[in-house]
Amino acid sequence: MDTIKTQGITIPRLGFGTFRMPGGGAQPVVETALALGFRHIDTAAMYENEAAVGAALATSGIARDELFVTTKVWHDQLAPDALRRAFDDSLAKLGIDYVDLYMVHWPARDMDMATTLEALMALRESGRTRAIGVCNFNLPMIRRAVDEIGAPIAAHQIEYHPFLAQTAMLVYLRSRSIPLTAYAPLAQGRAANNPTLAGIGKKHGATAAQIAIAWLLDQEGVIAIPKAARQESQQSNLDALKIRLDDEDRAAIASLPKDQRYVRPPFAPDWDATRA
Ligand SMILES: NC(=O)c1ccc[n+]([C@@H]2O[C@H](COP(=O)([O-])OP(=O)(O)OC[C@H]3O[C@@H](n4cnc5c(N)ncnc54)[C@H](OP(=O)(O)O)[C@@H]3O)[C@@H](O)[C@H]2O)c1
Repeated sequence: MDTIKTQGITIPRLGFGTFRMPGGGAQPVVETALALGFRHIDTAAMYENEAAVGAALATSGIARDELFVTTKVWHDQLAPDALRRAFDDSLAKLGIDYVDLYMVHWPARDMDMATTLEALMALRESGRTRAIGVCNFNLPMIRRAVDEIGAPIAAHQIEYHPFLAQTAMLVYLRSRSIPLTAYAPLAQGRAANNPTLAGIGKKHGATAAQIAIAWLLDQEGVIAIPKAARQESQQSNLDALKIRLDDEDRAAIASLPKDQRYVRPPFAPDWDATRA
């Protein structure tokens, strides 16, 4: 599996998402994903499946240091005491001694960013998370976290797929050697039905969904974490690692509309903000 090194850790570029699988139902799904070869698992306290993910990790028999586990703190737990409690709770549910990456799930309007990131840095110092990161920061926020506060951000997780551009964010993240982890890499399943992607897929003997994943992994510094409950989709997503796109494919995907943002909760930051 292709990997990216960042802030002292090595992240498999294709990970496995676990959103919208609350409770014990996630366990067999993650067990299958691990058996097929996924080693990077993305969960969050908010997904309400950390215990199930942890049970799957335990039954897999895979050595802990071969796994890459990410979890996240919800945006109402960003004050230092609350964040530490949330972290303890996540680790206990996962049933492991450390996570590989602990992330702020969403910024909060009233957060004290420096204090929150310092609390994350202290967890990193303690060794109970190997690295820290953020999700869903707009450009001024990520600049502040990295350039002003100096947080050792190992990855920024945001929505990214063939129907949503992240041009300015990628330019900035690459300038700081920070990977972009693409969430909703299949546009929450919509990529599977896109005729342009399907057409490219035909040429490669691949599906439209596989082309969406191949397009993300074709880009320097990009990690993708598709979620798939179905075993055949899990295998198909792993097989996307073998696809090599050409310039004609890239041009066809570049011509798709790039303003389709599907994750739009009311607490999202202003994505167009240019200053803090
Ligand atoms: N940080 C954040 O705020 C944030 C926000 C959203 C998501 N995420 C993370 O990113 C992960 C991925 O995003 P997502 O789950 O929203 O959406 P996604 O991965 O873009 O799409 C998942 C959907 O695509 C389907 N699918 C998967 N593989 C397929 C294939 N090969 N062919 C056809 N359909 C396929 C799945 O179907 P089945 O499941 O039925 O097989 C599911 O309905 C999440 O699970 C979560 O870990 C993070």
